[in-house]
Amino acid sequence: MRVDIITVVPELLRSPFEASIMKRSIDKGLVEVHFHNLRDYVTDNYKQIDDYQFGGGAGMVMMIEPIDKCITALKAARNYDEIIYMTPDGETLHQGMANHLSLKGNLIILCGHYKGVDQRVRDHFITKEISIGDYVLSGGELGALILCDAIFRLIPGVLGNETSALTDSFQDNLLAPPIYTRPSAYKGWEVPEVLTSGNFPKIEAWREEQAYLRTKERRPDLLED
Ligand code: ADE
Repeated sequence: MRVDIITVVPELLRSPFEASIMKRSIDKGLVEVHFHNLRDYVTDNYKQIDDYQFGGGAGMVMMIEPIDKCITALKAARNYDEIIYMTPDGETLHQGMANHLSLKGNLIILCGHYKGVDQRVRDHFITKEISIGDYVLSGGELGALILCDAIFRLIPGVLGNETSALTDSFQDNLLAPPIYTRPSAYKGWEVPEVLTSGNFPKIEAWREEQAYLRTKERRPDLLED
């Protein structure tokens, strides 16, 4: 997979790709990530990428021209499966969306700033709009990182143990069951006996029940789907 991230603050993006699973996915050659600084696509001397809103109102708007130049240059080099815009009024990110995007080859992610981008960018270039939740961030960069993390870990070969992404919370519309490791007793707090019984069908049944109970208690909305 190749991901091109368009941003006005590339320095916000770098370090999360230099550690843990995202670094591993790049080191293994399974993912390529490229950052594009929008200011590199501005022709005027002031490197202006935003301007006042037509009609008045608080907040600056990202101009269409540098975004057009950047996206058009990328599209001239290869085909893209999706051109994603990170925005609080997009579709809220969920596991199904991450699963779907993990199967794609090339993605562009555009990070908004200020009030957002000129609507014509959304109308003419963007194929998918994604929000990471009902709150407003200062820009789309942190959302783009969350999106990449959620996608990359699903790409076959990224996680050592293939089953571990499949048993994540949400993969079957259930939250994950409680997990434990050694010691089996700590300060008198015991691990549920079934988990140390060695009876794997019983362990599986316990996990399924716990996943259901946890989901019912914390996220009953997931059971309605
Ligand atoms: N940019 C600003 N807020 C955002 C959000 N909640 N999700 C995605 N991108 C954003």
